[in-house]
Amino acid sequence: VTLLPFSWQPAPGPASHRLATALREAITDGRLVPGERLPASRLLAEDLRVSRWVVTEVYDQLKAEGWLEARTGSGTTVAATHRLGPRSTAPAGPDPDSPPAPSTDLSPNLPDLRAFPLSTWKAALRRAVDQMTAADLGYPDPLGDRELRRVLADHLRRVRGLDADPADVVVTSGTAHSLSLLFRTLAAGGAARLGVEDPCWPRLLQSARRAGLHPVPVPLDGRGARTDVLADLSVDAVCVTPAHQFPTGVVLAPERRERLLAWAGNGDRLVVEDDYDAEFRFGRPPVTALAALQPDAVAYLGSTSKTLVPAVRIGWMVLPRHHREAVERALADDRTGPSTVDQRALALLMADGGYDRHVRRARRTYRDRRTELVAALALAAPRVRVHGIDAGLHLLLDVGSADEQALVADLRRRGLQVMAAGDCRIEAAGPRGLLVGYGNLPGHRIPTVARAIAEALRQS
Ligand SMILES: Cc1ncc(COP(=O)(O)O)c(C=O)c1O
Repeated sequence: VTLLPFSWQPAPGPASHRLATALREAITDGRLVPGERLPASRLLAEDLRVSRWVVTEVYDQLKAEGWLEARTGSGTTVAATHRLGPRSTAPAGPDPDSPPAPSTDLSPNLPDLRAFPLSTWKAALRRAVDQMTAADLGYPDPLGDRELRRVLADHLRRVRGLDADPADVVVTSGTAHSLSLLFRTLAAGGAARLGVEDPCWPRLLQSARRAGLHPVPVPLDGRGARTDVLADLSVDAVCVTPAHQFPTGVVLAPERRERLLAWAGNGDRLVVEDDYDAEFRFGRPPVTALAALQPDAVAYLGSTSKTLVPAVRIGWMVLPRHHREAVERALADDRTGPSTVDQRALALLMADGGYDRHVRRARRTYRDRRTELVAALALAAPRVRVHGIDAGLHLLLDVGSADEQALVADLRRRGLQVMAAGDCRIEAAGPRGLLVGYGNLPGHRIPTVARAIAEALRQS
């Protein structure tokens, strides 16, 4: 099923019974939230391949039971006043004898999966396919679809100030793919030591090691990465998240940006700029991208994983010209880029404003969720400090001397998946804490989550 958050396979038993049960469960465990609009009966029936009558009957039955309501002008919605089932309203403390609560994934990198603009994406896919000619159906251009590269160059000029030519843009299957390509080509070109922020995204470390690069930790403080020590580390390239450090959430201070660009020179050394969540700044414009200031020395990386959803698997790099050829060869050898159909659909979505509209809406949602989660935590656990600026999709909570891994395990028993800051550290020092994503956390669950975290901390 694409229209509702549950899977639907052919199975024995009346379809109406199975659909009613699936809807009740999705409402009880928060996958469908109060006020959320359900698909029109005709669309859902098409999607489930059942008769429309089955869907209207189930909608009527659940309305009568108080799970759903009909609003004039907005179709069928999840009832605003419906009391959530026992799993959502249960007190925060875990009962060792009860089975684990259904898991809520609060990974720091997840956007709101239910807010994916499904009908817009479907329409863009259909238009993309309609417009394709037989010649478009061969192997995709390894550097990316020409139309998408053109649209991306415009987009990045407009939103990040990059003066990129479409020829400088390379389309990949996401940032993990971009990093793996870059690291392999750096290693093949003779690079050996890669500076990485400590702490950093664990995938980045794995990818560097797999490519044969030796990751060298660059320490961090409240002003971002200590780029003033880079010259002493004898690294060939460095990876940074200057607009919003992952995972600490600090911004690279202006003098540190200058030191970094001075260190890189005019392409003698490479700065890899992971701009993973620049779209989500609340109440402040994003800082200028480094690649806009010194394009010859900076490889700029972006992705749709947070602006749309990770499943789309499309990312991009804007590369200094002298790195592009090596990456082009690696891409041509691998044929690992995304499908032409998806690339064209994204190009259409970006060109007609649908992408920007979705990002603007998502920005408001995440801003509100962050504000509510910070407020709920201040109430439930007043001593917990939140790191970093008002941005992105996650909080880094300082847990003092508490054992991070024990806290993660305790929260898992309470049905919450969070990450320990320790999983991002390279050396033992560095901020301790929990990474709590709110991108995929429905607003109505925020107080429960804050109470569960507070309770876990009290018991630690
Ligand atoms: C620091 C950082 N950069 C980039 C990404 C996006 O990676 P991808 O495009 O491969 O999903 C993530 C997602 O987890 C991330 O945490």
